Amino acid sequence: MKLKNKVIVITGASDGIGKQISLRLAREGTRLALVARDEKRLKEVSEKAKELGAIDTKTYSCDVRQTKELEKTAKSIISDFNGIDVLVNDAGIWQKIMTVEKIEKEVVDEVIETNLTALIHITRMFLPNLKSRKEAAIINVVSKSGVVAQEGQSVYTASKYGARGFTEVLKADLRGTNVRVAGVYQSGTNTKMFEKAGEENVPTEKFTNPADLADVVAYMLSLPEKIWLHDVRVEY
Ligand SMILES: NC(=O)c1ccc[n+]([C@@H]2O[C@H](COP(=O)([O-])OP(=O)(O)OC[C@H]3O[C@@H](n4cnc5c(N)ncnc54)[C@H](OP(=O)(O)O)[C@@H]3O)[C@@H](O)[C@H]2O)c1
Repeated sequence: MKLKNKVIVITGASDGIGKQISLRLAREGTRLALVARDEKRLKEVSEKAKELGAIDTKTYSCDVRQTKELEKTAKSIISDFNGIDVLVNDAGIWQKIMTVEKIEKEVVDEVIETNLTALIHITRMFLPNLKSRKEAAIINVVSKSGVVAQEGQSVYTASKYGARGFTEVLKADLRGTNVRVAGVYQSGTNTKMFEKAGEENVPTEKFTNPADLADVVAYMLSLPEKIWLHDVRVEY
């Protein structure tokens, strides 16, 4: 896809991987709809994206767990940009490592609702518009935890296996249409995700640099029409 002028929605754009994807795609002369809760950080990403070459950027402060709020946001984005070409589902949170009986109800709900339920709703809300475009794509930033079961990550892994299952069916449903779908299954990436969940002593220094992962996403999107990378496993 030729990225110049394309309208790209990125959830989780205020920090970590989503922020780096936003800045990387800005360099391609894209038009960006940046979604996350923290308005201040979104504005900073937006300013930087403009400096780097984004043709247009707009920020949408939204809690993706609030389905009504999300619905309003999706409608505003479609109206503000007159449609969208690419959806990057990145917003997500970590569940501090422990066995399932120790995980609080609120954490179970928050992880599943953010990493899985919201991803499904966002996709559902944008899909009719994506289908109306000449060429469109959905990239789901999932995790290695969507492919490999690792100790102590039951709820996070359930959300990510769910996201992979959803991505796979979406691919099957959209085969032969103008909307292409891919999942990114990356291992540890050097962001604040773990710290935010109260996880201590995570050896992030050996983790992938989020800017390098953003290069991978930009590469996936910028390949010629007849080449599509369905799944990308990235490990450090
Ligand atoms: N870091 C890793 O090692 C790693 C590895 C594999 C997969 N992943 C996945 O990659 C994605 C990005 O992770 P990251 O490491 O970049 O984490 P991060 O630095 O903590 O960034 C997470 C982003 O998601 C947004 N977000 C979280 N909850 C939200 C909500 N309820 N509503 C709207 N936005 C919300 C945050 O924005 P606000 O706080 O401003 O709302 C932030 O922009 C996640 O899906 C994560 O599971 C990460």
